Amino acid sequence: MIQEWLKKIELANSLGSLEDVRVEILGKKGVLTAQFTKMKDIPNTQKKAFAQNFNEQKAKVSEAIENKKTVLMALALEEHLKLEKIDVTKFNMQPQNGAFHPVIDTLDKITTYFQNLNFSVEEGPLVEDDFHNFEALNLPKYHPARDMQDTFYCKDGAVLRTHTSPVQIRTMMKTKPPIRMIAPGNVFRKDFDITHTPMFNQIEGLVVDKHNKISFANLKHVMVEFLHHMFGDVEVRFRPSFFPFTEPSAEVDISCIFCNGKGCRVCSHTGWLEVLGCGIVDENVFKAVNYENVSGYAFGLGIERFAMLIHKIGDLRSLFESDIRLLGQFR
Ligand code: DAH
Repeated sequence: MIQEWLKKIELANSLGSLEDVRVEILGKKGVLTAQFTKMKDIPNTQKKAFAQNFNEQKAKVSEAIENKKTVLMALALEEHLKLEKIDVTKFNMQPQNGAFHPVIDTLDKITTYFQNLNFSVEEGPLVEDDFHNFEALNLPKYHPARDMQDTFYCKDGAVLRTHTSPVQIRTMMKTKPPIRMIAPGNVFRKDFDITHTPMFNQIEGLVVDKHNKISFANLKHVMVEFLHHMFGDVEVRFRPSFFPFTEPSAEVDISCIFCNGKGCRVCSHTGWLEVLGCGIVDENVFKAVNYENVSGYAFGLGIERFAMLIHKIGDLRSLFESDIRLLGQFR
């Protein structure tokens, strides 16, 4: 009898069938349990031996079940782990090419262009003092032109720089002319709508040389060539304008790259897109940095504006949202 049971236990091939065998032998109505009920029919003299024999059998069966259970559990675990195994080589390991952010890409393109013309690349602090951000740029205190820039003020009269023009001042104060420099970087203004974000990037340019050596014609030539490099075959026009740090000053437009100058929504039906400001450096700026007998031109432009035009992006804010679906398009 016991041999038969042990065989059954041995043959159980799952925890479920092992449980069935256990119930069959040791359950309430199990065959071994049934033997125990015979106890009452056994003569007293044999009871002890019977009980001993019963207990031995029960112990053997129980032990066999436990052992088998351990084995089956290990097998089940192994099976489970096999199912859960992750084959990492099955994933799409094709390298996904990254891309430069359109702003960085545009910044690089502009920087490289001017570096090739022998301009140095200069930097300045993001938190500026009044002198560099305003005063030395011919924007004295209470000058109405300060209102053109929605300034973030910090403690002790410091400001978040509202433009990259202060780097002109810093560069002139640490070097002697001649100077050919650009200064790319973040600038900050209290403004937020479809065409303004509180932080954006500008590139400032400054060329200084001996008195009478730099003319508006030089400035115009460099700007026109630069804009052709960036936008291809466009018309370029200079419009008289005002900046405190340049005199004369101009705003520069290109013919609208969306409608070829015919007039559309993007150019407000004018056929022109404003892209930068520039001019001949004002004498007062040279005075502020103790430069004498020099002449120069300067220009400033917003990188995001260039990036939006080049990549035909409608909403400036989307350049700051890091939406991978947008960025993926520039690969
Ligand atoms: N700083 C000006 C701005 O933020 C841009 C600018 C205009 C810079 C004319 C210049 C310049 O150097 O000559 O709007």
